[in-house]
Amino acid sequence: MTTAAPSVQTRELSDAPDWWRQAVVYQVYPRSFADTDGDGLGDIKGITSRVPYLAELGVDAIWLSPFYPSDLADGGYDVADYRDVDPKLGTLADMDELIAQLHAHGIRIVVDIVPNHTSDKHVWFQEALAAGRGSAARERYIFREGTGVDGAEPPTDWESLFGGSAWERVDDGQWYLHNFDVSQPDLNWDNREVRDDFLTTLRFWSDRGVDGFRIDVAHMLTKDLTEPLPSRAQLEALPFDGTHPLIDRDDVHEVYAEWREVFNSYDPPRTAVAEAWVHPSRVPLYASAESLGQAFNFDLLEADFDPAQFRRIVADNLALAAESGSSTTWVLSNHDVVRHATRYGLPDAERGADGRPTRKHGNEWLLSGGETPVLDTARGERRARAAATFVLGLPGSAYLYQGEELGLHEVAEIPDADRQDPTFFRSPGIDQGRDGCRVPLPWTAEGSAFGFGAKGAHLPQPAWFSAYAVDRQDGDPASTLSLYRRALDLRHELQTDEQLQWIDAGRDDVVAFERPNGWTVVTNFGTESAPLPAGEVLLSSAELTGDALPAETTVWLRRS
Ligand code: NOJ
Repeated sequence: MTTAAPSVQTRELSDAPDWWRQAVVYQVYPRSFADTDGDGLGDIKGITSRVPYLAELGVDAIWLSPFYPSDLADGGYDVADYRDVDPKLGTLADMDELIAQLHAHGIRIVVDIVPNHTSDKHVWFQEALAAGRGSAARERYIFREGTGVDGAEPPTDWESLFGGSAWERVDDGQWYLHNFDVSQPDLNWDNREVRDDFLTTLRFWSDRGVDGFRIDVAHMLTKDLTEPLPSRAQLEALPFDGTHPLIDRDDVHEVYAEWREVFNSYDPPRTAVAEAWVHPSRVPLYASAESLGQAFNFDLLEADFDPAQFRRIVADNLALAAESGSSTTWVLSNHDVVRHATRYGLPDAERGADGRPTRKHGNEWLLSGGETPVLDTARGERRARAAATFVLGLPGSAYLYQGEELGLHEVAEIPDADRQDPTFFRSPGIDQGRDGCRVPLPWTAEGSAFGFGAKGAHLPQPAWFSAYAVDRQDGDPASTLSLYRRALDLRHELQTDEQLQWIDAGRDDVVAFERPNGWTVVTNFGTESAPLPAGEVLLSSAELTGDALPAETTVWLRRS
């Protein structure tokens, strides 16, 4: 049963094998999207009920973050069973219905696969605990003896990416490796059974009609754990050139070559996109047609609203995409970072000599509880609209994060007692964690949980969410939602070859480019108006008055 009556004009599902190359992919974080059973957690039926919304928005695909059985110790990235649905979120039949409804509305579906680690509730880890040292069950994970008296110290001083030691001791005295939370033991990718099981999982979801996969921490699966293990200091001194013991090893692509055979055995071939935080020169390895086929480009997550940074990032990533033969990906926000409307309303990041931010965007503001005047919300939204309109005009695919089409800000005012993210608990007082971008969406300005669900939301929604609700923005031509709808609709109409030609706007604060069919995108990053280039205005991220391009505004033009 579904509430998804096809009430909006829908597109046909394209059969082109390269449908993904310039797709707009909308990330759904299932716990926080829409709740139909009133338990405060979003569910699969909730997503199905909103398929018409997604069709009206005009997205080509959704990327569904993990929906598998999980304790939600890391928001679902702690998977207890890769071939089932979390009963808190629904059933396999609900997933089948979601896939069918998406396809009926011309929308493809990409699901998250988490291969670096399982949940500690996975049957394999439970077997490993029960079977004891030296067992085949322990060989699926990375167990080692400790050091020091009675092995009471961890095997190494390695740190988890979420803070604290990367090792945890079990009852019989051995230690297991967890690069993330203690509830996320790392798998041993030297183990054939592990490799085969993931091939089975990829086929399981492909057979059910899933169109592609987003691969979590794709650069960390294979490891060289030859004894003696290096210390943290020794690890830090090693280059990331494919031979590092833990990160971005060349041999991880042997895993993906096997996955590729599975992907290519379907029609159209299943797609994959790598979440790989690696040196840019190594991204093409993941994006190549022999490996995963596409890789995330996260450069814009680390950039300010700055013309030189944007221009450099576009040029670099188009060149990298050309190297791999893939298309690049544009990401302004996702479930791991401070929402970009908020980032752009904060003072620019301080940068090191390499141009990278030297502090986490927004952390100072988040620690202050959001009450300081440091954040300029209106400016953040204006810049966010300009940045999205810029990005949606670029060649390649664009990944949107749920709520950005509403111009949503990060929620800072989450009481400590309500926080859920392990990064908050593992680095107390230093990192506020990622809950602020994961607060359930406001669908209606009034009513229970702003229309998210009948009985509240699993993370508290602030009163100001009301102003951003879908029903407030629906039908308002000036709203951010209307801007996204128009942009996606026009993008389909205007879509052309994956090329761009830079246009010299004659000033540093304006970045402009033209696509092969004359579709022209011009962004004024500056704080003063600039001359509006000649041409028919198709879209503008802010109201235009006269023949000026206002500050912090993007326009799409058809050049005459
Ligand atoms: C990356 C995911 O995006 C993040 O949310 C998660 O915590 C880690 N991988 C660990 O799975």
